[in-house]
Amino acid sequence: MGFQLLLAIFSCVLLLPQPAFAITRHYTLEIKMQNVTRLCHTKSLVSVNGQFPGPKLIAREGDQLLIKVVNQVPNNISIHWHGIRQLRTGWADGPAYITQCPIQTGQSYVYNYTIVGQRGTLFYHAHISWLRATVYGPLIILPKRGVPYPFAKPHKEVPMIFGEWFNADPEAIIRQATQTGGGPNVSDAYTINGLPGPLYNCSAKDTFRLRVKPGKTYLLRLINAALNDELFFSIANHTVTVVEADAIYVKPFETDTILIAPGQTTNVLLKTKPSYPSASFFMSARPYVTGQGTFDNSTVAGILEYEPSKQTKDDHSRTKIKNLPLFKPTLPALNDTNFATKFSNKLRSLNSKNFPANVPLNVDRKFFFTVGLGTNPCNHKNNQTCQGPTNTTMFAASISNISFTMPTKALLQSHYSGQSHGVYSPKFPWSPIVPFNYTGTPPNNTMVSNGTNLMVLPYNTSVELVMQDTSILGAESHPLHLHGFNFFVVGQGFGNFDANKDPKNFNLVDPIERNTIGVPSGGWAAIRFLADNPGVWFMHCHLEVHTSWGLRMAWLVLDGDKPDQKLLPPPADLPKC
Ligand code: C2O
Repeated sequence: MGFQLLLAIFSCVLLLPQPAFAITRHYTLEIKMQNVTRLCHTKSLVSVNGQFPGPKLIAREGDQLLIKVVNQVPNNISIHWHGIRQLRTGWADGPAYITQCPIQTGQSYVYNYTIVGQRGTLFYHAHISWLRATVYGPLIILPKRGVPYPFAKPHKEVPMIFGEWFNADPEAIIRQATQTGGGPNVSDAYTINGLPGPLYNCSAKDTFRLRVKPGKTYLLRLINAALNDELFFSIANHTVTVVEADAIYVKPFETDTILIAPGQTTNVLLKTKPSYPSASFFMSARPYVTGQGTFDNSTVAGILEYEPSKQTKDDHSRTKIKNLPLFKPTLPALNDTNFATKFSNKLRSLNSKNFPANVPLNVDRKFFFTVGLGTNPCNHKNNQTCQGPTNTTMFAASISNISFTMPTKALLQSHYSGQSHGVYSPKFPWSPIVPFNYTGTPPNNTMVSNGTNLMVLPYNTSVELVMQDTSILGAESHPLHLHGFNFFVVGQGFGNFDANKDPKNFNLVDPIERNTIGVPSGGWAAIRFLADNPGVWFMHCHLEVHTSWGLRMAWLVLDGDKPDQKLLPPPADLPKC
């Protein structure tokens, strides 16, 4: 074959459009105990493959994932793929006792799902008790092969996952809190990629360092996997451009600080300085707090370091590169709700031709739920007192004053097998049974009711839901997470939602689309979504303490008539309770 012919064939192959076929990716996650030391405390923690945080999982839009989770720890386990839509594959969603029974010690389960119409940064985490404190990792979905980002291709992509470190065993912390009825102990440090950084005792060597070249663009994939804290994040002397939230492209905007709630993810572009700055920069995060309880008010810092060019290295040969000045960012005050509001108002769907915002314009059902704290009576016998807001009460939390009781059988199986009787009630109220002035002086009676109530929706119902914070035991921002869907945040405000006035100001053009929304402290958020995914879908506050207290419920979306509108049958290895 002549060289020219060969060349012709070769270039032909190169010029052909890349086939965009999807593949099946296999992963094995072994849940095992691992000794880890932070803040000079060594403990044996529940880890993924012996790693803390867990390994980064990568897929492309359209791929099928087969992830075998093997439980080698004494605890029951289940893993949630936070933000994955799980179209018709609710069996693979992961919340324990909602879509599956937990995987018991020595057992395994293969999570089998396909990523449809999603690309961006998400994460996975344990979804039982407080095990997600240490069982979490990035889940990165690249666009289909050959499909570009709607922004210039970054030089490098770097996941930065925020977490919380507890010197004690988080399982013991929540167990104790549930027994006493009091607030659980707070974390000892925040972490970036598992590392607390130089502002903590004993931790300078456990610092996340990001080494960059001047004049390049880096895509930071920020993930808040902390248990109980929304976080402000800022890089000294740099601004970033927000381009994505919860795996949805947004209208790019610049900011020097971002706010990220547990369960949220945000991609930002970091443009490095055009030339070597002879300095290093802290990348810091600390909490945004609106509640009245105690909290971890410490600061995690990573370090942004510039790689000196050969020339700079020579120039600096006499001075030590290590002794460069270190700049620190100024973060908003811990309770800066003004910043929070401004930031969340900047988030808009990209709403381009390729990435339209398909906001439901007609609404079939409107719901109004309150979210907030409350109390249960102290259940201690023998006159022992509790450590709730008073010594005769225990902390609780609720949606529309129903504190959700975890069932002992998985809801999805119960529904699918027609054996829901005695497991759940299909009656969740469309609005609170006893209305009150939600953000005014709280009522004298703060007791919640307890139950396992589901809201049932016919297939393809178009839903509008207003979530209203209450002032019971203090107003507080609640990051509400919905499984199985993205929703559009069509409105937000402070005070009580006004059904006559507020809808007039809804944004139905380019509202942010996401899976977790911080309901403003002492305010409300209105969301819309199309219930086009049959299954049982958990919705809860992503502050783990509030979930534990009952700020959770589930939606049951029924099958549609067509074969492709039905929940797929359960996998054979689905764990049993
Ligand atoms: Cu990221 Cu139900 O949770």
